[in-house]
Amino acid sequence: MQEKDFNDKFSVLRTRAEEMLRSASLDQEDFSPLSPDEIQKLAHDLMVHQIELEMQNEELRQAQIKLEELKDKYLDLYDFAPVGYMTLNDRGLVLETNLTTVQLLSMERTSLIKMFFSQFVCKEFGDTFYLYLQQVFESQSKQTCEIKLTRKDGTIFDAQLESIPVQDESGHYIRCRTILSDITERKLAEKEKEKLRAQLLQSQKMETMGTLAAGIAHDFNNMLTVILGYSSFLLADKNEGDPEYKELQKIVKTSQDAADLVQKIRIFGRKAEMILVPLDLNRQVDQVTKLLSHTIPKMIEMDIHLTKDPVIIKADSSQITQMVMNLAVNANEAMPQEGRLSIQTENIVLDNDYCRVHLGVKPGPHVMLTVSDTGRGIDEGLMERIFDPFYSTKTRDYRKGTGLGLSVVQGIVHQHGGHITVESEVGKGTIFRMYFPALKHEIVPEYVETKIPYSAGGTETILLVEDMDLVRELGVIILEKFGYTVLSVSDGQEALDMYEKEQGNISLVILDIIMPRMDGKECLEQLLRINPAVKVIISSGVGQEDLINEVVKLGAKGAVNKPYGMRQILGMVRQVLDGD
Ligand SMILES: Nc1ncnc2c1ncn2[C@@H]1O[C@H](COP(=O)(O)OP(=O)(O)OP(=O)(O)O)[C@@H](O)[C@H]1O
Ligand SMILES: [Mg+2]
Repeated sequence: MQEKDFNDKFSVLRTRAEEMLRSASLDQEDFSPLSPDEIQKLAHDLMVHQIELEMQNEELRQAQIKLEELKDKYLDLYDFAPVGYMTLNDRGLVLETNLTTVQLLSMERTSLIKMFFSQFVCKEFGDTFYLYLQQVFESQSKQTCEIKLTRKDGTIFDAQLESIPVQDESGHYIRCRTILSDITERKLAEKEKEKLRAQLLQSQKMETMGTLAAGIAHDFNNMLTVILGYSSFLLADKNEGDPEYKELQKIVKTSQDAADLVQKIRIFGRKAEMILVPLDLNRQVDQVTKLLSHTIPKMIEMDIHLTKDPVIIKADSSQITQMVMNLAVNANEAMPQEGRLSIQTENIVLDNDYCRVHLGVKPGPHVMLTVSDTGRGIDEGLMERIFDPFYSTKTRDYRKGTGLGLSVVQGIVHQHGGHITVESEVGKGTIFRMYFPALKHEIVPEYVETKIPYSAGGTETILLVEDMDLVRELGVIILEKFGYTVLSVSDGQEALDMYEKEQGNISLVILDIIMPRMDGKECLEQLLRINPAVKVIISSGVGQEDLINEVVKLGAKGAVNKPYGMRQILGMVRQVLDGD
């Protein structure tokens, strides 16, 4: 606007000056010069306008500088934007680009211009990019897509493209402005979230299955107590040559198999009784590997790496043995020809980053036990099923495999407050890693032998307290057969009455933990009041481990699980009777 005013004024002035000069030259012969006043006025006007002109000139120069600055600023913003900007034509040719794009692709600007952008698109996304570009120009609207790009140095990253087509002077869409963003971190975060979601679903699934399985195991357990008890009792009376000996033996064997199966289900359902004591995992693994060296075929190389430092966890030794055995057996089965089975222990610290992507894991010192093989590996699609109870790729036969191996491993790990991860590649092998919270090193653990010694019997008097008629009768039969005198009652109150009457004769009380009227715990408290030195064995069914621990702390001298076989109950009775 200022420039226009100036031009207007200037042209008026010029026209006036020209007119004056023309009239002056026309009257040359009859020269009548301008009056001194007129000349002075004209000179003054010209000077004023010259000053105005200079001022306008300066303004223009300033505007020009500002414009240059703005342009530089725009170029800086364009070049160093946090995202890449490009202009592509409808065939994907790069026409313009900012520096961020150049850096994202590890290129130089000059070489990137006139390159086809598809050259950076990873092969598997070639079609996606082609269709995307087509869609941008066909839809004539903003489009986005996510693809993987390869940088000049060969590294790959996740990228998002966001393009908007622009018209040329004739209204045709032949180029588009595209924003290129590196979304690697977002993709990683999404993956982590997905992983956590899958872990949550898996743990919920296992929880439900565990509850169901433990419920079935409970009822089965009671039935097995009776079957196993009576059949062992009948068998104990027979000699090998007797008719029915073999049949009875089969019943006993099959019920023992069934009891084993129920025990596995209880472990999976985290309802198995465990004796958790401080334990050096190295010592435990060392013992298992000795066992394994007899069973694992010679063509499988065993590679054992135990840390020099003690690795102390709170654990049940027999369960840890079972866990390692199951994993080793699986590894063996995955390497029918030859291969390497590695077992390793390590003290590690799990940090916040690790815990963020592993559900329910707390940071801190842990013991890591790794069992890996170079076997056939596990297909990715099957990975989430391998811990399911009864999932097996072996032929189904309860003598060969039930598909409970890994369910038991997982149950044991969880009951020890740990977690398990698996990594596998088909044809290469599988790695199972188990993490247990580490105990402080000052506690020096002793190896705990959890086997109950077998013992034939005795002549003492035992008070048997059990509300289930069949179980109680069975107990009486077994104990009497082995020389004991048995007084039997069916609840806590009767037990107290009997104990008060016969206290002098009773050497031991076997007390069921859950009974109507007065339960095992209360009965024990009363018995201890009558006689603080009373010897009591607690007998329990499925899922009562918390209660057992409590009762053992109260003063019970031992515990037996139902179904109790003869060996188990006789062993425990003798152990407690012979103890202090
Ligand atoms: N180390 C391994 N390598 C390859 N596949 C494995 C490995 N461990 C487990 N699997 C797969 O997981 C399935 C489930 O294992 P799991 O131990 O629970 O049951 P199983 O071995 O089939 O039967 P069981 O343990 O009762 O004898 C196996 O059938 C097998 O397909
Ligand atoms: Mg197995």
